[in-house]
Amino acid sequence: MYAGTDPHPGNRGLGLQKLKDAGIEVIGPVMEPAGLALNPGHIKKFTVGKPLVRLKLAQSLDGKTALANGQSQWITGPEARRDVQKLRARSCAVVTGVGTVLADDPGMNVRSEELPIEFAELAASIRRPIVVLDGQGRFPATAKLIENPNLIVAASHERQELDAQQVVLPVNAEGHIDLAKLLQFLVAEEDCNEILFECGATLAGSLLSANLVDEIVLYLAPKVMGAGARDLFAVSDYVQMDQVPNFAIEEARRIGEDLRLTLVTKQ
Ligand SMILES: NC(=O)c1ccc[n+]([C@@H]2O[C@H](COP(=O)([O-])OP(=O)(O)OC[C@H]3O[C@@H](n4cnc5c(N)ncnc54)[C@H](OP(=O)(O)O)[C@@H]3O)[C@@H](O)[C@H]2O)c1
Repeated sequence: MYAGTDPHPGNRGLGLQKLKDAGIEVIGPVMEPAGLALNPGHIKKFTVGKPLVRLKLAQSLDGKTALANGQSQWITGPEARRDVQKLRARSCAVVTGVGTVLADDPGMNVRSEELPIEFAELAASIRRPIVVLDGQGRFPATAKLIENPNLIVAASHERQELDAQQVVLPVNAEGHIDLAKLLQFLVAEEDCNEILFECGATLAGSLLSANLVDEIVLYLAPKVMGAGARDLFAVSDYVQMDQVPNFAIEEARRIGEDLRLTLVTKQ
């Protein structure tokens, strides 16, 4: 019994055919949507040639992601932060913007002791690039991430003084890394299926405006951060409601003191 056919060009039903040729009865697909949903990045990559983009954000009740002074650690409680470890562990790469590095100096690795799954150590030890988008070369040589052997700094030019793997990618009109080229790089050079973005409003806004987000995982904390605090997405104003990006709520679940919403692009 099988749930679906693997779209990978090396498979595509070849295994099923072998079973049939050997006289084994093959039944399926059964529960196909649920089966394919177990590995959405792989399915997307081998059907449309692009990775699945998941955007993780933490916000307050008033829709803010950092205080006016830039502080955002921590908006959510420890349970929600542990939950994020699972999102990182299932991803092929974690991407952020240099603004987050400058503000928070994050680690962004998978911490096995906080990963509430079986085989946590194995999952944490898998090579998983942490990519910092740094169009203008502001990544600080003293950042905590520099210690991480999986760090890749993506910029418009290489910096001799930076002791990290670097990739030079084209930039857009604003001087920011071209996101479509970044995704191409991650598929072609790093064999990525699922990519997790954990970033501030600038990069989140660019992803949204470029229509690149497949799924948003939004942790909503029952806190109020004030009118001057930073928004979730830095996007230009829309003038008509039919232009407004629209997501469908796939799941809403309480995680500790917070709420986790899983939202998918409306087809
Ligand atoms: N609540 C949350 O979920 C959360 C998560 C992370 C961070 N934060 C908070 O967000 C704040 C930082 O916000 P931020 O907006 O500065 O951080 P960000 O979005 O992570 O980084 C923005 C920077 O990334 C670079 N970048 C490269 N390519 C880009 C592209 N295509 N589109 C947009 N940016 C690109 C830009 O610098 P170049 O000019 O060099 O290209 C840009 O200034 C901090 O206060 C942090 O604490 C909150």
